[in-house]
Amino acid sequence: MKRLPRIRRGTTLTSPVSGRRYVVEDLLAEGGFGTAYVARRGRRRVCLKLTADSLSWHREAYMAELLHGHPRVIQIHEAFPIYRGHRMLYAIAMELAYGAVADVVDGNPWREHRVVAQVRGLLTAIDHLHASGALHRDITPFNVYVVDDDLLKLGDFGIARHGPKKGVPADAFNPWFVDDDLFEGSRSRWTITDDLWQVGQLAAVLLTGDIRPIHTREVRDLPCSDGLKLAIRRAIGEPAQRYPDAKSLAVGLRGTRLQFGRLRSLEARTISFTGPLGISRAEATRLARRAGARVIDSPSGALDALVVGDASPGWIAGTSGGVKILQVLALRERGYPITIITARHFLRLIGL
Ligand SMILES: Nc1ncnc2c1ncn2[C@@H]1O[C@H](COP(=O)(O)OP(=O)(O)O)[C@@H](O)[C@H]1O
Ligand SMILES: [Mg+2]
Repeated sequence: MKRLPRIRRGTTLTSPVSGRRYVVEDLLAEGGFGTAYVARRGRRRVCLKLTADSLSWHREAYMAELLHGHPRVIQIHEAFPIYRGHRMLYAIAMELAYGAVADVVDGNPWREHRVVAQVRGLLTAIDHLHASGALHRDITPFNVYVVDDDLLKLGDFGIARHGPKKGVPADAFNPWFVDDDLFEGSRSRWTITDDLWQVGQLAAVLLTGDIRPIHTREVRDLPCSDGLKLAIRRAIGEPAQRYPDAKSLAVGLRGTRLQFGRLRSLEARTISFTGPLGISRAEATRLARRAGARVIDSPSGALDALVVGDASPGWIAGTSGGVKILQVLALRERGYPITIITARHFLRLIGL
């Protein structure tokens, strides 16, 4: 799209809709979308976005209406067309943010409690959007804004779309901030869990101060509790095992704590191991069998118990341990009564 002519500092733009006058101050950003300025309306400073693309302007104004008044969405004050330099321009006056996450957090990571509180707040807006039947598709560090120091708010609904529950065609996204399947085209629909994948990545960005998305195997190195790692690991992991909706991700972010149970005996029980047990796997398997148990490698609905070895910091969301725990948590969510037991309890059951 052709570049818009720059608007000089001090220029007054008047909304033909409301009659409000906006005095243009600094240029904020210039790009494919058009230009964004800081503008003054009376004593209030706002962000004034100008575009020549009436379609994206309509979409943004419509989505803003849908989410009007939500405390975690950048508020749109008004949308109006103006005639300037022999062409139509479309303006949106909105709440001015301190900056995008990408600008504010880059090299300046947040502490865990702040990340959890703010991302959970943001999820209330995403939940509201999903409940109204739309998907955002662009929840990147460039489109989530920081307002008043540390309040996260959702913005830029430029490619948001309404669609059925099973998702919309993944025909528009930021290729840099999606999972490999969507990027490579082996999955072709964008669903709620893809929005939530982006939220999981956003949490990692806030924790590390590095705006690049991470791989699941890097979750173990995040500077946070195992509980939060587990939640992020699930949000950005295998699509079938991800959080189904924004509310359950919000609950997960509060920290997934493993609830350990007990077994009377191993007789006729199907079990599986994960994490360091204190004895070798071969020995553990041999002794478990002697106690009447069946040992399987990968968790399935047939599983009665998962034996979880000592959780030294950081292994829980690792390449092997984390995956089995996540699989078991997913199976339990589907109603399979699988007990998670500690390695110590297991050792007692086999008489050690
Ligand atoms: N409300 C706002 N407050 C502060 N800066 C903003 C605001 N809205 C947009 N910007 C700036 O303008 C840029 C582009 O805006 P955005 O709506 O994300 O358009 P797009 O991503 O489609 O180019 C942002 O990256 C940001 O720098
Ligand atoms: Mg943007």
